[in-house]
Parts: sequence; structure tokens; C-alpha cells
Amino acid sequence: MTLEEYHTLRQTPVPGGHLYTKPGARGLADPAYELLARYLEPHGEDALDLNPGVGLVTHALHRLGLAVQAIETSRASLRCLEASFGNLLRVTRGLPWETEPASVDLVAMVLPANRGTQYVELSLLGAARALRPGGRLWIAGSKDKGFEHYFKRAQELLGFGLLAGRAGPLRVAVLEKEKPTGELPEVWQSFVWNFRGETLRFAYLPGVFSGGHIDPGSALLLQELPAAPGHVLDIGGGYGALSRPLQARAQSLTLLEDDWPSVLSARRNLGEGAVVLHSDVDEALTPSHTFTTIIANPPFHVGGLVVLETAAAFVEAAYARLERGGNFYLVANRFLPYEPLLEARFATVRTLAVDSHKVLLAHKG
Ligand SMILES: C[S@@+](CC[C@H](N)C(=O)[O-])C[C@H]1O[C@@H](n2cnc3c(N)ncnc32)[C@H](O)[C@@H]1O
Repeated sequence: MTLEEYHTLRQTPVPGGHLYTKPGARGLADPAYELLARYLEPHGEDALDLNPGVGLVTHALHRLGLAVQAIETSRASLRCLEASFGNLLRVTRGLPWETEPASVDLVAMVLPANRGTQYVELSLLGAARALRPGGRLWIAGSKDKGFEHYFKRAQELLGFGLLAGRAGPLRVAVLEKEKPTGELPEVWQSFVWNFRGETLRFAYLPGVFSGGHIDPGSALLLQELPAAPGHVLDIGGGYGALSRPLQARAQSLTLLEDDWPSVLSARRNLGEGAVVLHSDVDEALTPSHTFTTIIANPPFHVGGLVVLETAAAFVEAAYARLERGGNFYLVANRFLPYEPLLEARFATVRTLAVDSHKVLLAHKG
């Protein structure tokens, strides 16, 4: 797939209409979204979709005649939502717990279980806060990914709830808000990491990749980076685990990241000295933006599903954004087949280090 193909939005038929989709965006052909969209019933006038992805549930709420707001964190999914619903309803970039109190009659949410317990529980709190008294929360998820626990937690927050539907391990439940909701707790966390004698403090929000510790793959990659990397681009930079240790040695630092909580975390960690952009791969850069060194620890999960499409787009973007003579450093799990992708593009590809992960260096001649 070329970079242009990766960035192209496609109209995809869904029950009762079309939605824009693209590689790297969540929530289409996902049975939890399909089940929730099927069971939803209207209630009141205003609704909020707190984990919309490309908008299957948003679309169902809209078809039920509700005034819908969709709050999304992923730039790839936001691109699809904006194309599908731009003029029809409110599409907002935001954190699922930062909702406007008592503002809607219905909240719908596929549980973002792959983002960890704290993120899901905060999202439930955001849902409870957004509901007016008597408002309803619809949730969907898998019993193999904590549905029972989250349903119980939602009942503690809201009150009465019942199971509305099931398909295999998937469950849908609806709850009614009978209780007032408490305040949001402090959500920021931090940890320190010692890199080459320097103590680095990292702040992070719930749900980010490798919060609380540096990923072993990222640590291995950092050992292999040059002393003077020049102008550096970090693609899929998370909260800045790779960029922060490089900050003193780079001539400039640009970090691109699809996930909004990660973008906010990276901005906190890198401060004014770096450019941190909410970007689906290199979408936020201008065409003339090029770099001396590009680094990445690419993702291979989207919404819990293994996909290499986004990682392949990282490779394509790295090639397109490198100056001639520039180097792309990539780290990946040993079993992931990146070599053919890199060899199809770059003049030379070398393996620099291997343990549970491998560090590859691709040189643009
Ligand atoms: C394996 S993590 C690495 C994060 C960070 N570089 C580190 O080393 O800790 C991959 C990162 O890529 C981000 N990502 C996923 N899809 C992306 C996309 N389409 N564009 C930009 N970043 C993306 C994820 O949100 C995640 O932060």
C-alpha cells in the first residue's frame, strides 16, 4: 500500500447509509460496535458517543433522531468522523473523561478495554458525569475483556442496569442514572527513568502505550541512536519515551502521534523545545518537511486487532520524509516481518541489535 493509499478515505456502506473509513482507524467490521448499534434505543434528545472510532454507533444514534456529539482521541478516526458527519453533528477531539457535566440524555460507548482498566473506568466516570439525572448509558464489550467488571463499576456509578443483548462473548447493557456523580480524580501520573546517568521524569495520561515504564524495545533502540542525530522525526512518538532522551543532542525534534492522550503527555514531557503534532502518520506535516534521522517503535495493534498497515505506512512516511543520506531507525518485536518492507524502499537495511526485539537501520542513498 502506498502512502497516498493509506491516507485516502473510502466510503463504506453501513446499515442505512455510508461512512468514511481508512486504514488505521478503529470501529468498522468490529462486532462490539455492530452489536451496540443494533440494540440502541432512543432516549431524550441529546446523545454522546464516547468511543466512536469511525462512527458506526454515532451513525445509529443519529438515525434514531438524537442530536449527537462524538468525542474521539485518534486522529485517523477523527479524519473519518469529520468526513462522514462534519455538518451533521458535533465531532470533537477530547479525552473521554473530560465531558460537560449533565449535558446529555444518552451516552453510548464500546468499552475501550484494550486501553487498560484505569482508562475504561475514567471513561465510565466521564459518561456518568455527562448524563442528566434519568439519562441512560449503553455499553458494549466482551466478557473475555472485563465486561462483567465494567458493568458492575457502571452500576456503582449510576444505579440500575440490565443486560440488553448478547452475541457469543459480547454483551450489551443499559443503565439509568439514579445517583449524583463524584468529581474526577487526578489523572496525571509520572515515573522516572535513568538513561546514561541522566534522571528523566516522564508524565503520562491513562491509556498511553507503556505508561509507567520504558518499553524494552524503545530502550534497545535508544542504545543504537547516533550522538549527533541532526533534525529528528519521531513517528508514533507516544509520550516521548524516545524523543525525551534525544532532546539535548538533536538539532530539532518533531514528534507525530495519532493518540490525543499521548500527544498531551508528550507536550508535557518535551515542552517548548519540540514540535508535537496530533497526526495520522505524517498527515500533519507540510509536503516540504524533511529530516536527517527518523525513529519509530511502530504500533501493531489497532483497537486490539493486529494490523501491519499502519506500521507499513510508518515505513513509507519515513522514506518520504528523510533527506538523501538520512537514516531510519526502527524497533520491533523479533517476529514482525519489517525487513521486506524496508528493503523494498531503502538502499541498505542492517540489523543493529537483537534480543526480544530487533533494531533495524534503513539508509536512504
Ligand atoms: C509501540 S508505541 C511506541 C510509542 C513510543 N514511541 C515509545 O517508544 O514508547 C506506537 C505508537 O504509535 C502510535 N500510533 C498508532 N497509530 C498511529 C498513526 N496512525 N499515526 C501516528 N501514530 C500512531 C500509538 O498511539 C503509539 O503511541
